[in-house]
Amino acid sequence: MTAHDGIVLVTGGCRGIGAATATLLAEQGQRVVVVDIAPDAMPGTQAILWPDPFDVASDNAVISGIAAIEAAHGPISGLVNAAGVFGKMHAAERVRMDNWDREINIDLRGTFLVARSIGVQMTKRRQGSIVNVASVAGMTSGPIHAYTAAKAGVIQITQTLAAEWGRAGVRVNAVSPGFTRTVALEAGIASGALDKDRLSRNTAMNRLVEPSEVAQAIAWLLGPLSSGVTGINLPVDAGFIAGSTWDAYGGMREVPGAQES
Ligand SMILES: NC(=O)c1ccc[n+]([C@@H]2O[C@H](COP(=O)([O-])OP(=O)(O)OC[C@H]3O[C@@H](n4cnc5c(N)ncnc54)[C@H](O)[C@@H]3O)[C@@H](O)[C@H]2O)c1
Repeated sequence: MTAHDGIVLVTGGCRGIGAATATLLAEQGQRVVVVDIAPDAMPGTQAILWPDPFDVASDNAVISGIAAIEAAHGPISGLVNAAGVFGKMHAAERVRMDNWDREINIDLRGTFLVARSIGVQMTKRRQGSIVNVASVAGMTSGPIHAYTAAKAGVIQITQTLAAEWGRAGVRVNAVSPGFTRTVALEAGIASGALDKDRLSRNTAMNRLVEPSEVAQAIAWLLGPLSSGVTGINLPVDAGFIAGSTWDAYGGMREVPGAQES
């Protein structure tokens, strides 16, 4: 299933959601190039690893990196902005502004910088599709002040760029994963900062999301099956948004008879 002529670039593609997406898109027959700040061999995928470190927060690295990738592999017609860092959990008065700047720089500024650098070229070619990885954290509140603001910003720039580039044939959408079982999340659980049961129990489906499930949504939004869709933010959250208010009413309930079937 080839979306367009040209390659798909996946940022932050060496791990987690980015890696699952790159692998899936390559399996679907796309020519996929992965960039990451920490490029690392990816066994078991046909995706091409760009060997140089690519920091989405660095203007020079992004601009020169994209030029070099297009020179080597051809025009980029699909972009998945999956690079990101998690927020540190703190009360407002304990938020360190160097951490604030880092999270905003990578998660929001980096997403915009890469999307703009590639999207403008896409408009000239009059084809392209971009998927930004936001988060349910950008749609709700939590003690991760810079991260929630950055991800809300990602949802916002998705809509703005979709409106700006729609007439040039370029679509821009976002996915908002719920708590997804990646290395980064597992590290948070292992450190005690996050609790797996707590993360699961307020979701309608009482579980974490798998990286491959987010990848499927990204592949749909990136490809021709969603040709009429632009500017949306699609939660892939096992029902976290739907279930998050139920605690106020005593919590989620088991469905009678569901155990027996
Ligand atoms: N896992 C979750 O529960 C979850 C939930 C919602 C949203 N997200 C978002 O999904 C995206 C991927 O998260 P993940 O859980 O797969 O994390 P991860 O840490 O497993 O993967 C992130 C990748 O991005 C790379 N990266 C980090 N900073 C970078 C930079 N400056 N430039 C280029 N690459 C960089 C990392 O090296 C890593 O390979 C992030 O944007 C994250 O905020 C994750």
